[in-house]
Amino acid sequence: MSKTRAAITGVQGYVPDYVLTNAELEKMVDTNDEWIRTRTGISERRILKGEGRGTSVMGIEAVKGLLEKTNTDPADIELVICATVTADMQFPDTANIIADEVGIKNAFCYDINAACSGFLYALTTGARFIEAGAHKKVIIIGADKMSSIIDYTDRATCVIFGDGAGAVLLEATKEEEGIMDALLKSDGAGRIYLHQKAGGSSYPATAETVARGEHYVYQNGRPVFKAAVSGMPDVVSKVMQRNGLSNEDVNWLVPHQANKRIIETVAKMVDFPMERVMVNIHKYGNTTAGTIPLCLWEWEGQLNKGDNLILTAFGGGFTWGAIYVKWAY
Ligand code: ACO
Repeated sequence: MSKTRAAITGVQGYVPDYVLTNAELEKMVDTNDEWIRTRTGISERRILKGEGRGTSVMGIEAVKGLLEKTNTDPADIELVICATVTADMQFPDTANIIADEVGIKNAFCYDINAACSGFLYALTTGARFIEAGAHKKVIIIGADKMSSIIDYTDRATCVIFGDGAGAVLLEATKEEEGIMDALLKSDGAGRIYLHQKAGGSSYPATAETVARGEHYVYQNGRPVFKAAVSGMPDVVSKVMQRNGLSNEDVNWLVPHQANKRIIETVAKMVDFPMERVMVNIHKYGNTTAGTIPLCLWEWEGQLNKGDNLILTAFGGGFTWGAIYVKWAY
C-alpha cells in the first residue's frame, strides 16, 4: 500500500494595511534608505496597529481566507498549529484563539516557538500527524507581530522586522506529492546572539526589566548572518542530495526572508539562479514565522502541480531547516 503523505492544498496570507517606509524610519532613528536597502534589501514593512490587536488578528484573517478559498468546513479541521514568537499572551496559545474565532471547534490547537524556522517546524509536525494516519486535515499558520517586541529606537533591529501571517491547509493524500522530506536542526548555543532577555520565567516582567528595554528583540547581527549562510546551504544541499534532486529539478527555492544578502548568498552557495528564488523582503521585511507562507501565497498563481520546492529558514534558537515539497495543485 502506498504511503500516506501530507499535501499542501491551499495557502492564504494576510498583511496589515499600515506601511512603514524607510523614509519614515529615517525620522525615527539615525538611518537612511540607502543603508537599509543595500544592507537588508528592505524598502517597507507592514505594521499591525490598534490597541489589543495581537498576532491572532492576522492569523484569523489568513485562516478565514484559507477555509473560504479551499471550500473547507471548519468542523473538518482536526489540528491547528501556529508558529509564532509573538503569541497574543503567554497562554493560552494563539492557535486556540485563532481556531475559536474562525469556528474551528473539533480540533486540538497549539503553538510552536522556533523563531524564523517556526513555519518549517510546524509544517513538519503537522505533516507527521497526517503521515501517521492520525488526522486528515490540518492547518499550519506562521504569524508574527514583530512590531510588538521591537525597540523603535534601536536602528540595528527596527529596520528589519515587520508584521504578517500566512496559513496552509494540509490534507492526506496517497499521491507522491506534498511534504516529501524535512531536515530540521537546532543549536541552543546560538541563543546568546538572538533572544528576548525578559518576560519569561528567568526574568519575569518588572518595572526594571521594562525600563531596561529587555522585552525587545536582542540581536547581534553578524554572528547570526554567518551562521545563517552556513546552516541553510548545508541542509538544502543534504535534502536535495538524499532525494536525488539536481538544481534543474527544483522549480523554486523558498527562503526565509531575513536579509536579501543572506538569500543571495544561500542561492549562490547552492548554485541556484535568483529567477527561481522567491523574494518579497522588499515589501514586508522579516515577518519571522510569516515569511515562507507569505511567499507561497504570493507565488501561488505561478506554481504548478508537480513542481519541486525547497523551503529553508534560519533563526533564533538557533533553529534552521529545509523541507522538500512537491506542489499538489
Ligand atoms: N542604519 C544605519 N547604520 C546602521 C544601521 C541602520 N539601520 N544598523 C546598524 N548600522 C551600523 C552599525 O552601527 C555599524 O556601524 P559601525 O561600523 O560604525 O559600528 C554598521 O552599520 C555595520 O553594522 P553591522 O551590524 O555589522 O551590519 P551588518 O552588515 O551585519 O547588517 C544586519 C546588520 C542587517 C542585522 C545583518 O547582520 C543581518 O541581517 N543579520 C542576520 C539577521 C538574521 O538572519 N536574523 C535571523 C532571523 S530573526 C529571528 O529569528 C527572530
